[in-house]
Amino acid sequence: MAMPEAAIAASAVPGSLPPAAEVVLPIAGRGLVVRRGGRTLIDGIDIAFDGHGLTVVLGANGAGKSLLLRLLAGLVAPDGGTVTWGGTPPQRRHAPFVGFVFQRPVMLRRTALGNVRYALKAAGVPRSMRDAIAHRALGDAGLGDLAGWPARLLSGGEQQRVALARALASSPRALLLDEPTSNLDPASTLAIENLVLAARKAGTRIVLVTHDLGQARRLADEIVFLHAGRVLERAPAQHFLDGPSSGQAQAFLEGRIVL
Ligand SMILES: Nc1ncnc2c1ncn2[C@@H]1O[C@H](COP(=O)(O)OP(=O)(O)O)[C@@H](O)[C@H]1O
Ligand SMILES: [Mg+2]
Repeated sequence: MAMPEAAIAASAVPGSLPPAAEVVLPIAGRGLVVRRGGRTLIDGIDIAFDGHGLTVVLGANGAGKSLLLRLLAGLVAPDGGTVTWGGTPPQRRHAPFVGFVFQRPVMLRRTALGNVRYALKAAGVPRSMRDAIAHRALGDAGLGDLAGWPARLLSGGEQQRVALARALASSPRALLLDEPTSNLDPASTLAIENLVLAARKAGTRIVLVTHDLGQARRLADEIVFLHAGRVLERAPAQHFLDGPSSGQAQAFLEGRIVL
């Protein structure tokens, strides 16, 4: 099971889990290559995420951002190279420690609470602890009043908050987010950004993919810039935003189209 029994026993506070073991960091890709239909979509990427903080992965549509995130999440197998979590290939039992939130939330046909409880069950959290933890996670996401509501009947913004609460409930060490606000209005976007920042403050290592420059400015500690399946730049956020090195990133920041 994901959570060592001893760690669960040591967790004295109902509704909270012990900090996740550090086993999944660094999340790393070495020599990653993905080819489809004669095209090279990921073209030799070496990257690792360790420690703390929030990295924003920026790049134009089609740059390979989603694909890179799915590779790192262990959801897609590369044609070349390797992905490791904490030095070993991603293992199913470690999956609860690497949260993943997609562009469009995928809700089970259950209540909001049921969705979070289900994730905790999958994470190996004992039944007796699930309700308290799930309520707390939904409360943190500002969804306490909607816990009993069928998740699929919630608004897009609320569903995305449930998705985030579900990912955070198992106290992941890392959180991978793929354009989590691209379908949301400004108020919902703000709610999601605040949740992400709270998770970062709590020590979760966050990698967030976006093509939204404003979001990058608001959230990023550092920025990875992807272009045509390659990492062109990786720099502290302010450094990158003040003056990127590559022409492609400059064009991206100025809103020019680069092919
Ligand atoms: N399964 C797939 N089969 C074929 N092409 C794909 C597949 N997944 C992604 N692509 C292509 O790979 C490129 C990168 O996709 P993606 O990672 O989704 O880009 P981004 O998220 O940066 O917009 C795009 O040109 C896309 O059309
Ligand atoms: Mg994408």
